Amino acid sequence: MNRKFSFFIIGGTGDLSRKKLLPALYKLYKEGHFKNLHKVYSLAREESKEWKDLVGSFNEPEKFENFLHFDVRSDSSYHELGKVLQRLRGQELIFYLALSPFLFETTVRKLGRLLRTYTNPRKIVVEKPFGFDLTSAKKLNQILYTYFVEEEIYRIDHFLGKETVQNIFSLRLSNTIFEGLWNKNFVDHVQILALEDIGIEGRGEYYDKVGAVRDMLQNHMLQMLSFLAMEPPCCMHPEYIRDEKVKLLRSVRRVSDTVKGQYEGYPSEKGVGENTRTETFVAIKLYIDNLRWQDVPFYLMTGKRLSKKLSQITVVFREIPRSFAKLLDCMPKQNKIVFQTAPKNKIAIHFELRPPAGKFISCPIETIMEYDMESYAGTKLPEAYETLILDIVEGDRSLFIRGDEVEIMWEIVEPIMDDKIEVYTYKQGSLGPEKAHRLIEKDGKTWIL
Ligand code: BG6
Repeated sequence: MNRKFSFFIIGGTGDLSRKKLLPALYKLYKEGHFKNLHKVYSLAREESKEWKDLVGSFNEPEKFENFLHFDVRSDSSYHELGKVLQRLRGQELIFYLALSPFLFETTVRKLGRLLRTYTNPRKIVVEKPFGFDLTSAKKLNQILYTYFVEEEIYRIDHFLGKETVQNIFSLRLSNTIFEGLWNKNFVDHVQILALEDIGIEGRGEYYDKVGAVRDMLQNHMLQMLSFLAMEPPCCMHPEYIRDEKVKLLRSVRRVSDTVKGQYEGYPSEKGVGENTRTETFVAIKLYIDNLRWQDVPFYLMTGKRLSKKLSQITVVFREIPRSFAKLLDCMPKQNKIVFQTAPKNKIAIHFELRPPAGKFISCPIETIMEYDMESYAGTKLPEAYETLILDIVEGDRSLFIRGDEVEIMWEIVEPIMDDKIEVYTYKQGSLGPEKAHRLIEKDGKTWIL
């Protein structure tokens, strides 16, 4: 960006800011991306020791050690913020809402009102969950549109900043060998997993009000689905990419099967209600009603306190005709393409090849071609937040979610949220409730873990 800019983190001393945003901003600054950065301001009710230690370690006190006492509910805080803004005439102002989603509406309203008296170009970044259901998401959109235009709004989903997720797009658009296979004629089914071994990490008060559907499924998982299944856009323009994602999401047929779970011991976590029914696990099956994906099942599963951290999409291709088994001496495994974001950022293609056998008819073995992005780069990959913050500063909205898109995502998950089905208890360190395995096994498939 050529213009000078200031970055305001509302909720600046919180976890997200300390663990992700401030380190990402500092790294980008050190790498020379932010020549025009005036200052990063952290706004919060209290200045914490952890925040001070972090920004103190950056060796750039002027740029990063700027704290503003700020209570999002109090008018006087906005008055004080106004005094700072008066000194920033002509600069672009970027506001990042890194606070509890329960405070988004109030903050947008009050901030929006304050900004009416300023002519500075501005951007507002809104974290997830964007609302708690369709109605509240619509309301939040309306409030945003009262004060900002869509081009100024960045609805962030950090999964889109991950190298592998962006590579789905590249793999599909930069190769001709895959495009012909990317449809119901060749794909048997798709699995999208976001398994975590960690629990709710002291976020009980937030998590118990949202659960796995709002925390992971409505946003990260549906975004992964969109990137995998959307039609290629006509041109590389943020609006055309988002148009295709919206079109895809509109074609999602209402979810048929759902299994919810809760890990043993969750009700005694700090901040969680004793009789809570909040799910810490959800698995679903859905279909996409369009010509490309008609009748191809998509299985999605996410949960906390499971046996491992595993985030990946697996595209499983159809079996060869059964009659070939005789020619090959066995039934080969189905081909797969795996897009993994955790534990590694990698893409792996699984296919079958004949081993040296000394005879014509022999059972093929699975061969895996793997592209591990970190090994290839020879260095640590950029964190998702680094990529997305750079995009925000540069004004590229391709990897951010549009207003209509977020509403459709709520339309898809609302029936799952409202479904008063049983919430099965599962053991910590397991692979979730047994029922979730039956959900896919009854279709003659298994989770690829
Ligand atoms: C966040 C969720 O958006 O994503 C967390 O609120 C979850 O509950 C996290 O743990 C997972 O992200 P990642 O990048 O660690 O897989």
